[in-house]
Amino acid sequence: MTNIGILYACKDDGVQKDIHELKNAALVWEKEKIVWVGHEDALPDMYSEMERMDAGGNMVIPGLIDCHTHLAFGGWREDEYELRSLGRPYIEIAKAGGGILNSVRNTREATEDELIEVCIERLDEIKKLGVTTVECKSGYGLNKEDELKVLRVYRKLDALQPLDIISTFLGAHTIPPEYKENREEYIRLLTDDLIPFIAENDLATFCDIFVEETAFSIDEARTILGTAKKAGFGLKLHADQLSSGGGAELAAELGAVSADHLEYISDDGIRAMAKANTVAVSIPFATFYLRQQSIPARKLIDAGVPVAVSTDFNPGSAPSYHLPLAMHLGCTLQYMSPAEVLKGATLYAAKALNLDTHTGSLEPGKNADFAVIKSKSINHWMYHFTPNACQMTVKDGRVIWSV
Ligand code: NIG
Ligand code: FE
Repeated sequence: MTNIGILYACKDDGVQKDIHELKNAALVWEKEKIVWVGHEDALPDMYSEMERMDAGGNMVIPGLIDCHTHLAFGGWREDEYELRSLGRPYIEIAKAGGGILNSVRNTREATEDELIEVCIERLDEIKKLGVTTVECKSGYGLNKEDELKVLRVYRKLDALQPLDIISTFLGAHTIPPEYKENREEYIRLLTDDLIPFIAENDLATFCDIFVEETAFSIDEARTILGTAKKAGFGLKLHADQLSSGGGAELAAELGAVSADHLEYISDDGIRAMAKANTVAVSIPFATFYLRQQSIPARKLIDAGVPVAVSTDFNPGSAPSYHLPLAMHLGCTLQYMSPAEVLKGATLYAAKALNLDTHTGSLEPGKNADFAVIKSKSINHWMYHFTPNACQMTVKDGRVIWSV
């Protein structure tokens, strides 16, 4: 591709704000891999006869990676949104049987085919935003049959459409109503049945848990994630979202690949994550929709913790899959610069999925996953926010969408 006005390579070099800008660039790929990136006037002769695409002077970025979503769910919760708009707290709605449990009822009712259909519609829109990889969690089934149903949906979606789908088992999202009086038994179902079954059948890459007063305690998380780690899963945690509960410290202790949310992370948690090299996955939409305080992104970045940016797309706290909008809110609400949110939604999001040797930056050897954005710079893109500035999305060297 030639006539690229500005390209941001986002290499794993330097700190979060270093996104490796290149003006008047060209990008060369063969099949699914990048073979050369540089100034167009330095393009080696050996590539000059190749088929060319013209970027029209636009900006090129690595394909965006949404490293935290709950993509497959039945129904929506717009009535709860109306209540929340008028000031009813999210946690109060959850305690009254709404919230996650509302979506559990709807997701159990949906068939595998119905979930596949709604997810394909969602992914068709997501790819138009420049996104090339999406992490997807279960967690609205909360019994064996329905958790496995959702994980099978993700495996099928990976084959049915062009975006890469990385699946995460979140059976520990909350305690389902059938086990309300017997939480130990639900935890045993997770550790003795579901985790080994999912590992044997290769239905998920990561195991996640929601650590919160209304969900699971630190000790329960240690048990569940300890079992998942032995079974070979990478670990993730929903931590310190609504209160400070030591989730970030536990993520570091267990060698989790990421801790997500972190609005209430403690200073000890920040230090522990920096030492353990755990990625902090920020979720500006949840902050925004729930009117919460933001993740202390500046403190995390200053401590050397990579801060990824994701949508957390789900029917409750973050009902939007617009990752560029989440990046914009990352700037406004989280005090991150446009360059920092770009690295947070590309290379550092890839790190949060252990994919950074394959994707997340534009350099030889990596997958040709990139997006052409109609903007003159990353600052201008984030500042003058438009519904969709993406002109073209390329995944594994193939154009999967263009205007
Ligand atoms: O990541 N924090 C827990 N789980 C989801 C929200 C779930 C819901 O409200 O349905 C989240 O924000
Ligand atoms: Fe989430």
